[in-house]
Amino acid sequence: METLKFFPSVETPDEGYQKTMKNCDELLPTLPQSKGWWIGQLFQYQGFWKLSFSIRGSMLINDHFKPRPTDIIVATSPKCGTTWLRALVFSIINRASFDFSHHPLRKANPRELVPFFEGIIHKDGSTSFVDGIPSPRLLSTHLPYSLFPTCMTDDTSACRFVYICRDPKDVFVSKWHFANKLRPKELPPLSLEETFDLFCKGVSHYGPFWDHVLGYWKASVESPKKVLFLKYEDVKKEPLGCVRKVAEFLGVPFTPEEENKEIVEQIVKLCSFESMSNQDVNKLDKRDQQRPISNSDFFRKGEVGDWVNHLSPQMAEKLDQITEQKLQDTGFNFH
Ligand code: A3P
Repeated sequence: METLKFFPSVETPDEGYQKTMKNCDELLPTLPQSKGWWIGQLFQYQGFWKLSFSIRGSMLINDHFKPRPTDIIVATSPKCGTTWLRALVFSIINRASFDFSHHPLRKANPRELVPFFEGIIHKDGSTSFVDGIPSPRLLSTHLPYSLFPTCMTDDTSACRFVYICRDPKDVFVSKWHFANKLRPKELPPLSLEETFDLFCKGVSHYGPFWDHVLGYWKASVESPKKVLFLKYEDVKKEPLGCVRKVAEFLGVPFTPEEENKEIVEQIVKLCSFESMSNQDVNKLDKRDQQRPISNSDFFRKGEVGDWVNHLSPQMAEKLDQITEQKLQDTGFNFH
């Protein structure tokens, strides 16, 4: 199994890629910009704040990716439980292939098993890498739904999206911790107040957070066979029910025999925070230029409601007010 680099470099791009990359290079200086939280500048592209590599990734996907009806996309806004959802979906669709005591999730972080779509689309300077992944391809993304090509999102295409969202107060706190961990040591730490202000204004990776959530929410209401929408809090509360729901959505419901063998329970246990954060591979705390993020960075507390330990009542109220206003008349709420 190949270990994927987080920000793969582009080696000798083919002609089509070169054209898209040139378009991206010309576009970037024309976009609104803001300082990033830990690395790089953020650019506002089609309503969302993104790093340049991710804008280029979404342009490459739009221009060159050839979807298959069996493609499964695990989608999240950062810090909503990407690692967890990657692990759950990977173990659901591959449950017949592995014995739980020697499962790949015991030896590899989920990001090595479920490639990061807008990252690996760069790989090899052509689509040869993504084209070579056997079906069903399982890919992970932070891209907003509106940034995918219609050949992936319209009702005639059969590829499916599984999305997970989370209370924005916990998302913000998780993001702030993550950003401070990754921030170069020579820079001063990011203050909670400064980053809170940016988050509230929508300026965070793949933000505004609420627009990201609502894009997938609306798609899940309009096309429930295409987009499954989950909440982190629900998966915490009812993990067995959620795992069954994902399996049904993906067209691979658990059989009575699998239920008898307690396969659902084993998946939930394998992917739990306690189990995953205690695997040696996920304790790895090593960063370098090729891999600026280490496996251990994706595991902190894994709890619902940790925001109470970080946000003042005024901050929580402000975030709740923004959320209420953004979600007004959408039929969605975080409760
Ligand atoms: P906290 O910082 O609140 O602990 P992402 O994977 O999208 O980067 O999200 C990271 C958040 O998910 C972190 O939240 C992390 O601890 C939590 N997390 C990671 N693995 C998890 C798991 N197996 N179950 C529940 N939460 C998990």
